[in-house]
Amino acid sequence: MILTDLEFVKQMEGWGASFLPGRMLSEYTSLGVGGPADMIVIRRVEALEPVVAGLRERGIEWGLLGGGTNVLPVEEAHGKVYLRLATGAASVAFDGIEARINTAAELGRSVMECAMKNLGGMEGLVGVPGTVGGALRMNAGAYGTEIGPLVRSVKVFHAAAGKIEEMVAEPGRFRYRKSSFAPDDILLEVRLQLQERPFREILDHVKSLNERRRKSQPLKEKSAGCIFKNPPGLSTGKMIDELGMKGTRVGGAVISERHANFIVNRFEATATDIFRLMDEIRERVLKGYGVTLEEEVIVWKN
Ligand code: EPU
Repeated sequence: MILTDLEFVKQMEGWGASFLPGRMLSEYTSLGVGGPADMIVIRRVEALEPVVAGLRERGIEWGLLGGGTNVLPVEEAHGKVYLRLATGAASVAFDGIEARINTAAELGRSVMECAMKNLGGMEGLVGVPGTVGGALRMNAGAYGTEIGPLVRSVKVFHAAAGKIEEMVAEPGRFRYRKSSFAPDDILLEVRLQLQERPFREILDHVKSLNERRRKSQPLKEKSAGCIFKNPPGLSTGKMIDELGMKGTRVGGAVISERHANFIVNRFEATATDIFRLMDEIRERVLKGYGVTLEEEVIVWKN
């Protein structure tokens, strides 16, 4: 436990935040790996400013945990506190063809809520696991849709300044699996511009994409989606596959037979098993193709 100031912990409750000491990150990540860390659940947005200021005063580093679907935390105890947002209803508010969504909302559910209002344009994202906030950070994308181009504005808590700002979309903010928010920006709410489309049509599109995904990705196993990015013009999955690496195992971690850019936690893997398997992939792809792979998952070190 790195947060030991019980007076601060008590104050937090009053602001609308709860302290959860020594939680196993493996319970909060889709890969099912990661060691112990202290957590603070933010129940009211107003709690963010005093909590972050209090942590800063005490010299305690913090990170933000969303849906945990694209992170790979190390096995050792983490020397920082992870904040989690639980700031109100995960429902969507509508204004014409615009949707205002709380970043703590689940992405897939939000896509369907929009669909029920006959608003489409984000169907490709329906099978991407995680929160809307995580999707924005990573500029999540699938099947030709990325979330970035749909964004009109994002309400952000700038931790360094302790202020909330509505940031209007600007060119270059979102790139392939990347956004230009500051590391300590906490995204709170997004305004997306969608397209009017009949629910039935959206649903048919979603169904066909889900079918494609089921066939090509190991959806029933624990994973963090694609583990490496695709280098420009290349497919990492295809390269790993062509190297005959599907099924390669290190400890409890296995390269999926269904999609070679997915590492699955099949036999109670540790984060260390996954790191070793990633190193092996990196080496083989470099040797075989002369290509240096870049991680797509976010590695949480100490
Ligand atoms: N392929 C193989 N073997 C494999 C996997 C793929 O030969 O084991 C081939 C496929 O046959 C296809 C090509 O590689 O010809 C591309 O494969 P796929 O359509 O599955 O797409 P991808 O480039 O591997 C990307 C995203 C996925 C996203 C899909 C669908 C990245 C790193 N990956 O995968 O995103 O779901 O397109 O749009 O950009 C993620 O970001 O975590 C993720 C899973």
